[in-house]
Amino acid sequence: MNIAIVGAGRRCRAFLEAISRCTFEDLELKVVAIADKNEDALCVRQALKHGILFTKDYNDLFERNDIDLIVELTGDRQVFNDILQKKKKSVRAFDHRTAQLFWELNRISAVQERTEQELVKAKSLYNIFINELMEEDLMIISPSYQILDLNETLSSKLGFKPKELIGRYCYEISHHQDAPCEGRDHPCPLRQTLRTGKPSQTTHVHRGPKGNELFYSISCHPIFEDGEIVAVVEISKDITKDINMQRRMMQQQKLVSIGRLAAGIAHEINNPMTTILTTAMLIQEDLDSDDPIYKELQTIVDETLRCRKIVDNLLDFARQTKPSKEKNDINKIVMETINLTKKEAAFKDIRLGYDLAENLPLVHVDKGQIQQAMINLAINAIEATEGGGKVTFTTRLASSGEAIEIIVSDTGKGIAEEDTPRIFEPFFTTKETGTGLGLAITHGLIEQHGGTIDVKSRMGEGTTFTIRLPIKKGEEDVH
Ligand SMILES: Nc1ncnc2c1ncn2[C@@H]1O[C@H](COP(=O)(O)OP(=O)(O)OP(=O)(O)O)[C@@H](O)[C@H]1O
Ligand SMILES: [Mg+2]
Repeated sequence: MNIAIVGAGRRCRAFLEAISRCTFEDLELKVVAIADKNEDALCVRQALKHGILFTKDYNDLFERNDIDLIVELTGDRQVFNDILQKKKKSVRAFDHRTAQLFWELNRISAVQERTEQELVKAKSLYNIFINELMEEDLMIISPSYQILDLNETLSSKLGFKPKELIGRYCYEISHHQDAPCEGRDHPCPLRQTLRTGKPSQTTHVHRGPKGNELFYSISCHPIFEDGEIVAVVEISKDITKDINMQRRMMQQQKLVSIGRLAAGIAHEINNPMTTILTTAMLIQEDLDSDDPIYKELQTIVDETLRCRKIVDNLLDFARQTKPSKEKNDINKIVMETINLTKKEAAFKDIRLGYDLAENLPLVHVDKGQIQQAMINLAINAIEATEGGGKVTFTTRLASSGEAIEIIVSDTGKGIAEEDTPRIFEPFFTTKETGTGLGLAITHGLIEQHGGTIDVKSRMGEGTTFTIRLPIKKGEEDVH
């Protein structure tokens, strides 16, 4: 459509700009002529530069055949009326007010277009941020606990597509509950952020598929709109590895300090105790075993022996020196352990069984130390098992092929859930005559070999300890 403009001032410039921005699908707009009685008007030079016809008298426009539309932009009503009267019937005309409506509409659509472009840009940045850069689990949650959005890291962990989870409640998805979280293990950081309007952080303890503890650090950050919280960004991070590492370090530090303390006092106590023991036994020799004093002395002997056991264990602890490693056949060590503990087992009518993998590689270990670790596990298993029960020793190559697993399992009473995290602590015991050092020593010995020890237990069903000893490269000679 060819356009002629009457009036080359400010309105003309706005109109030209609006036209240059417009893209109409089936309409090509082209300004072919401009008329203004002032030849210095704002757009005259621009018109001439672009080869647009310029005339000082708008009457020249009515004679032309190449004009489809005349736009009056002088703001003078009389000029428009004059145009309406003189123009050819086939030529359309509109005045500066209609023109203004046109460029306003155009401006709005330009702003909209810009906003849409900005939205697309923001959305793609947001997607990159939450799905590609963010390794943690992220959810955006409404104040009514509904999921507004979540990242792919989290949705794939949950086994869904993000859109299948949007709109559902966060507690339903994360905790399979029908109400928001609460309690010591599950304080709700979202609730706190909604209450205080400030970011909040907490740690949740979950159970993994194998009953293991998983720790999640959860932080919530509010999003405000007009002073109101409209959503909360919740980021959760699996910190199980960090917590376990911290625990191990604390355990190690405890072991070191107890070891030092033990080394200091054990020898001092051993001598007087030997004196007490031998004196009590000597007096017993002169007495008849029915004598009541004989029995009192027996109590002294028994209790002194118990003290000696504690001191011996403490000394074992203190002796946690560097292992002197040699190539060893783990199956041989297991068989020797069975031989050393079979009397105790037989005494309680407990069967000792074994299932040892063939062709295991030899491993570099301190035989005495691994033996001691296994005896501790075997004795615990026998102590926890009733007559008629069974303790089984298994060896195998770990599925990774990089470690040998030694498994000691029993059909005994099991370990209470609340005790499980404490059993490797020095002095933790549930037995009347226990020192609580057996597992602490075992743990220390296995760690010194670069290995790990885990426990799985169910009350009333039994307990399984798994030791993993690494096979270092170059040590894979099969015996
Ligand atoms: N196989 C097992 N079955 C059930 N509970 C076990 C088993 N092994 C260990 N425990 C629990 O772990 C605790 C700590 O074991 P640990 O060997 O360190 O000390 P203890 O056996 O009590 O004392 P000590 O080894 O000095 O005789 C035990 O008291 C017991 O409650
Ligand atoms: Mg023990």
